Amino acid sequence: MLVTNKVLLDRAKAGSYAVGAFNINNLEFVQAITSAAVELDSPAILAVSQGAVKYAGFENLVSMVRTVSDNLNIEISLHLDHGQDMEIIKRCIDGGFTSVMIDGSNLSFEENMAVTREVVEKARPAGVSVEGELGRLAGIEDNVSVSEQDAIFTDPGEAAEFVEKTGVDSLAVAVGTSHGAYKFKGEAKLAMDRLSEIAAVVPVPLVLHGASGVNQEHVAIANEFGAKIGAAKGVPDEAISEAVRRGAAKVNIDTDMRIAFTAYVRKSFAGKPENIDPRKYLGAARDAVFEVVKAKMKLFGSVGKAFGG
Ligand code: G3H
Ligand code: 13P
Ligand code: ZN
Repeated sequence: MLVTNKVLLDRAKAGSYAVGAFNINNLEFVQAITSAAVELDSPAILAVSQGAVKYAGFENLVSMVRTVSDNLNIEISLHLDHGQDMEIIKRCIDGGFTSVMIDGSNLSFEENMAVTREVVEKARPAGVSVEGELGRLAGIEDNVSVSEQDAIFTDPGEAAEFVEKTGVDSLAVAVGTSHGAYKFKGEAKLAMDRLSEIAAVVPVPLVLHGASGVNQEHVAIANEFGAKIGAAKGVPDEAISEAVRRGAAKVNIDTDMRIAFTAYVRKSFAGKPENIDPRKYLGAARDAVFEVVKAKMKLFGSVGKAFGG
């Protein structure tokens, strides 16, 4: 069944767990994530970026997710990740998505509020939920002063005003996470007090982007079979658990699945130069993503929470 992010996240906030948002670009990822949801009786958010729409095609993604959700006894949401193009956002609202993100985090506070409010006004009558973002996603860096670092994190007062004036259903915050495989040069740490301060004044569920852990075993397998992934570092599992305890109700994962998929495609070819069957190497990679997603659902506490638990 397809449901909105609001349904899933309001429940997660009330139950002090988080729902994973997992990026999809192709069938193998949809299968891996939804199979994990079925096996663990967990809700899941299938996140589609504008790049995914360009790569796979809008209708293909919507019909693939709709077909899977119609045929499986699971509760999932189809969500636009980092929407910035108003045409794509409108297409998602009208074309079968149950949730959209408007990412105005690179705009001024006032401009961000204006575009976000515009999206809420379009989405609400269609029953589609909206995620906004405030603050700049960047890691905590040792060579940047505390006050400079503080300025890029989400300000609790602004967050409260933003949510009240825009009417968003959830808010993505900047507390030291960043996208990709290279999140921290020094110690991997998040601004946990800041997260709690925001949670105390913002009534809607909070969202943690850039939350991949960067599994070093997967990095090692990828590198063993020819990848060149350097000093990659992600958010430790303990920090994710603490962030969920402090109010993160949606946790976004893409990089961890990408690394696992890459590692196992590469490994599949090793010693098998005759392998020309994509089902063999994509199948092995799909299995690896399935395991990654299950581990995340356990970490976020969403196991057994489908249909409200
Ligand atoms: O936050 C971005 C996601 O990892 C999606 O990445 O824009 O390359 O599809 P993408
Ligand atoms: P990662 O790059 O840490 O997986 O973050 C993904 C994300 O935030 C998608 O919106
Ligand atoms: Zn993101």
